[in-house]
Amino acid sequence: MIEKMISQPSFDVVNPLLFAMGEDVMGFLNEVQLQYPDAISFASGRPDANYFKIDQFSECLDHFVKNNAREKGLSENIVLENLGQYNRTKGIINEEVAKYLSVDEAIKANPEDILITVGAQEAIAIGITTLCNRENDVILVEDPAYIGVTHFAKINDYAIDTIPVISDESSIQAIEEKILHYQEKGKKVKIVYVIPDFQNPTGNSMSLTNRHRLLELARLYDFVLFEDNAYGDFYYEKDKMPTLKSLDQNNSVIYLRSLSKTIYPSLRLCLMVVTQKVKVNEKSIALSDLMAKTKGYVTVNTPSIMQAMFGGLLLKNAFSLEALNTEKRAGMKEKRNQLLESLNHFFNKETHFWAENISWNLPAGGFFLILKVPFRVTKQDVIACAETNKVIFTPMSFFYMNQGGENELRLAFSNVTEEEIKNGIERLSEFIKSKVTNQ
Ligand SMILES: Cc1ncc(COP(=O)(O)O)c(C=O)c1O
Repeated sequence: MIEKMISQPSFDVVNPLLFAMGEDVMGFLNEVQLQYPDAISFASGRPDANYFKIDQFSECLDHFVKNNAREKGLSENIVLENLGQYNRTKGIINEEVAKYLSVDEAIKANPEDILITVGAQEAIAIGITTLCNRENDVILVEDPAYIGVTHFAKINDYAIDTIPVISDESSIQAIEEKILHYQEKGKKVKIVYVIPDFQNPTGNSMSLTNRHRLLELARLYDFVLFEDNAYGDFYYEKDKMPTLKSLDQNNSVIYLRSLSKTIYPSLRLCLMVVTQKVKVNEKSIALSDLMAKTKGYVTVNTPSIMQAMFGGLLLKNAFSLEALNTEKRAGMKEKRNQLLESLNHFFNKETHFWAENISWNLPAGGFFLILKVPFRVTKQDVIACAETNKVIFTPMSFFYMNQGGENELRLAFSNVTEEEIKNGIERLSEFIKSKVTNQ
């Protein structure tokens, strides 16, 4: 029987929802990148490795160990041994992280309200698993959305539905309408997942008024707001906007602060802030304790050595990442500017008649820009452009749960050099010109 399964795998041995989920778009893009390694890729939102400074992280680890040994009156060897052991499920650097959240992000949280998770992806998994039941609860996400949340919900059979990207007052009304629609059906919108700062994939930033309106809606209809803040450090125009969590008077927000883009992704760290209490059998219980219970059965605990490295970084920098972020933000802003300059040059309507119906947004932060073109962007276009013009992009339709984005493509500018941006946009303009003029 086992032999048969190995020699002839059959789909009924795996979760059918893996296939109902739709296409493996990231797998497709990875394949294209592997097949055309000399192509300039605007596909993935990976951070720029020039800012990783991984060599300095051994010093951070050392700093953490020395500091811990001194504070706890232990030998450095014992502290190191402890780092090698299984550890607290909620994390081992919660005090340092609480100080960081207060200093840099104006978020007040007790160390016990914080879980240090294995990336935002684990925080999303823990949050949804702890809060939702499959029969009655619904998760709302903006459409288009970050596929990390939509695909997790779909594989695990949680009900998920869409709202428009929150860009004006009508999007807030659309959320209210969806909530009422589900109420009529006897269901409850339990979670609204949003990326207020430089949303992936649209780059949209939620206005302050809409942040307040959304918080008011959460209070009125008693849902939990998942605020995913992966890109908030990368603002290029105005100052940082206040996070939903820092404005949250009613304890409606669960805050996910991924460090993948700010520090580097292989740390696999996210700071999850859960300040709510819930009633279970008339007893008030910290929701963070229940999240920890779930986490215990997902990853047991987050690698202590990675936490110690980040803890050391915080200790060395007086609990603030601001000084470290300045250089990264400036570098990313230059890339954004280079991209805008190249688009203005190679898609100039005055000098290129075919560029008349091509437009793009001006991202005020984050890693992404959206280009609108007068044709349907398909998977075949991605392959053709990689093969002929040696440049790779992502069709926006990949990120929609419903229809949408058919005439748009996403350009990630985070992991390309300014030179590559110039060359890549020139090549992309040749591809788009051939599409437009051959229609
Ligand atoms: C919106 C959003 N959240 C979170 C992440 C990062 O998740 P993680 O912390 O698991 O690396 C990404 C990465 O692409 C993202 O776009």
